[in-house]
Amino acid sequence: MISANLTVDPHFVVGPINRRLFGSFVEHLGRCVYDGIYEPSHPDADKEGYRRDVIALVKELGVSTIRYPGGNFVSGYRWEDGVGPRENRPRRLDLAWHSTETNEIGLDEFAKWLKKVGSELMYAVNLGTRGVQEALDVLEYTNIRSGTTLSEQRIANGAFEPYDIRMWCLGNEMDGPWQLGHGTPDEYAKLAVKTARAMRQLDPTLELVVCGSSNAQMPLFANWERVVLAEAYDEVDYISCHAYYEPRDGDYASFLASAVNMDRFIDSIVATADHVKAVHGSQKSINISFDEWNVWYHSRYAEVDRITGIDDWPVAPRLLEDAYSVADAVVVGGLLISLLRHADRVKSASLAQLVNVIAPIMTEPGGPAWRQTTFFPFALTSRLARGVTLELKLESPTYETALYGEVSVVDAVATHDAGMGDTAIFMVNRSLTEAVELAVDVSNLGQVYVVDAQTLHDDDIHAKNTLDDPERVGLKPNTSHSIGDGTLRITLPPVSWTAVTLR
Ligand code: AHR
Repeated sequence: MISANLTVDPHFVVGPINRRLFGSFVEHLGRCVYDGIYEPSHPDADKEGYRRDVIALVKELGVSTIRYPGGNFVSGYRWEDGVGPRENRPRRLDLAWHSTETNEIGLDEFAKWLKKVGSELMYAVNLGTRGVQEALDVLEYTNIRSGTTLSEQRIANGAFEPYDIRMWCLGNEMDGPWQLGHGTPDEYAKLAVKTARAMRQLDPTLELVVCGSSNAQMPLFANWERVVLAEAYDEVDYISCHAYYEPRDGDYASFLASAVNMDRFIDSIVATADHVKAVHGSQKSINISFDEWNVWYHSRYAEVDRITGIDDWPVAPRLLEDAYSVADAVVVGGLLISLLRHADRVKSASLAQLVNVIAPIMTEPGGPAWRQTTFFPFALTSRLARGVTLELKLESPTYETALYGEVSVVDAVATHDAGMGDTAIFMVNRSLTEAVELAVDVSNLGQVYVVDAQTLHDDDIHAKNTLDDPERVGLKPNTSHSIGDGTLRITLPPVSWTAVTLR
């Protein structure tokens, strides 16, 4: 057993927590939409074809904003294919995922489903094969009340009220050579600026997200952001960050410390944005929309999933259906800690994705839906993290990693809701072998007691929830805690994620 110390003080505030930190992402990819959220032949489908069991799980997950319709998919997508009478909708090749898009689900159906789950729509426009006009068209369709051709078309299609979409992504991963329409940062910045100006002519209050790098390993990482922001600084509100993690060559020591990489990633992009702010002499700060993050077994995609046959364009194939382990869930919990720690600058984030595709929720056609291991840290963090993030003082033993050097064994973040008087502490123990005895100085919170303590841990770090054993892994009450003399003591098992609520 090793020990660590933490001090929680409600006077030291990082920033307010935006609910949009608990967003997710639905792309027309694999079985995320078709056979995921939508399966009209399923016994539990509602009259519009949406799976009720999935709706219940999405609500339980506590997802705020949902980014749609892609992802790589959006860079070849014609939004108008997906509206109007279904019988007239074209079938198209989806070049991003080598699939056939039937267009049975489009904007209107997705907006309807969002109402059922109670989440906000964040819409990505196609700046891959399209541009300013199409972005204006979809904005007119969604946000203009009535009296124009496109707004009247929406009304005729059954949506009397405008969708009033606030957050708009100006394309997706435009730095990636795999992206349709990919170009240089300068080319993209010019198109993003033109699109943003035009969209703001229609509505100056829109919140616009410009594309950052696809990941921190891209050759232009940070330079892409610098060049794009130099052009687009005044026109946008957020820059996007994307990051996916997986264990490489069995190096779990580094994998469990993935949040260290996310911390550095965020710090680098904040520094880059603030550099441009200084050069521009601007008053405004550009915040981060971390609109794709998760564990993703890329190696599996290359070996198992990738469709290449010239005549092979399946509808809703099984793609990117990673089954997540306990270790993966501890990493996801750690990544949420990193996002919360940066609540002053990360104002929106999307767990990529939501159903079946690298997702916390899995479904079987005609069969059950179940929670992956990663569901649990997300759902509980979304439920408990309210108010503001607090700055913590953490003293923890460290260990050496191949990828990130010396890292802390324990990582933690605390949130405080002054109105409710609640404090939540989220913690991970990254040690593969040792439990940690953690002492938390809570004396500055006044007289508090433990409302609840939940831990995700299993002796087998590779344990998963599957179709055959959907409840193998879950949260368990952590009964090791005690509180007295202003100190909370709790044991964190090896490779575990824990949430404690104090009142
Ligand atoms: O989420 C899967 C894919 O990852 C998205 O389509 C793309 O934006 C990213 O590369």
